[in-house]
Amino acid sequence: MSDAAKALFHFLDQEAIPRPQPGRGFFLRAEAPPALARQWQQALICEQSFKPAYDRLRQAGYAVEREIGGEGFDLGLCLLTKHRAENLANIGRAWRALRPGGVVVCAGGNDVGIASVERAFRSVTAEVSSLSKYHCRVFWSIRREEVPPTVFGWIESGRLQLAPETGCWSRPGVYNWNKVDAGSSLLAEHLPGDLQGRVADLGAGWGYLSLQLLERCAGVTSLDSFEAEWQALEAAKINLERAATSIKLGFHWHDVAAGLPEASFDAVVMNPPFHEGKAVDIDLGRAFVVAAAKSLVPCLSAFYPHLPPIVCCHSPE
Ligand SMILES: C[S@@+](CC[C@H](N)C(=O)[O-])C[C@H]1O[C@@H](n2cnc3c(N)ncnc32)[C@H](O)[C@@H]1O
Repeated sequence: MSDAAKALFHFLDQEAIPRPQPGRGFFLRAEAPPALARQWQQALICEQSFKPAYDRLRQAGYAVEREIGGEGFDLGLCLLTKHRAENLANIGRAWRALRPGGVVVCAGGNDVGIASVERAFRSVTAEVSSLSKYHCRVFWSIRREEVPPTVFGWIESGRLQLAPETGCWSRPGVYNWNKVDAGSSLLAEHLPGDLQGRVADLGAGWGYLSLQLLERCAGVTSLDSFEAEWQALEAAKINLERAATSIKLGFHWHDVAAGLPEASFDAVVMNPPFHEGKAVDIDLGRAFVVAAAKSLVPCLSAFYPHLPPIVCCHSPE
């Protein structure tokens, strides 16, 4: 569990926040605390669009959705990420989803710019309290007034949108949502033009490498995007469906580290992750390479007697 989640649940233990009735609280960018009281588990509907974290919540017995809707909630918990615009959008959504008198509690690490998010929050509501714990900040407030226009602006800025910098659809919170990753750009420049047949893009993000592949490799007959972040996959679907008219496209909300269908692809492209959240995770990158190798059809000589069919790069984050 991250330090921010620890700080958040420390706050819930210490401060006498009334526990909502079952399903009357929500938890955005939720993480599964291992020893949370059963009544708290039942009180919360979790939102998590990152597949490995979604699966962990399910296994721990939480109600979890990729995107929650509804309003009139008593309590909203919000774990903050390193993406400011995503954080503001989530705080805005939380504020809007509470009933008047409902409480929002946000937590995030000092090293992800939480101070500036807290300042922005204080600019729209007068009564904000806060504490510091585990190198993190927790701040909270009671919703009393109408939702101010600034907050609707935050929600709007966090939506799926066309990024002018790339000409592609994406949204804040997705990896490099409005720019091209330097490693991926280098990889694209060196993509062998004769890649062909069934190709997979692992950790496809909003679809940059796949788009490059379609542009540079005329022999590709199908392209399967595997991505753990639902918000990224949604964007990739729009971007690729705009670009590819004749080839078969597949989109898979999937944890690649959990493995892939074996012997299914003629080539794999990827810029694998080496982080989950803030933590460096070299094993995650390794698991991608292993999954890629197993997913290739054996005896690649049909298309590539001499070429390595995994095309991969690494971008230090
Ligand atoms: C370095 S980024 C590359 C994104 C994109 N391919 C590009 O070139 O810009 C790695 C991607 O892997 C995704 N990812 C992280 N962990 C994953 C997992 N376990 N399974 C599938 N995708 C994952 C991230 O959400 C991110 O989009």
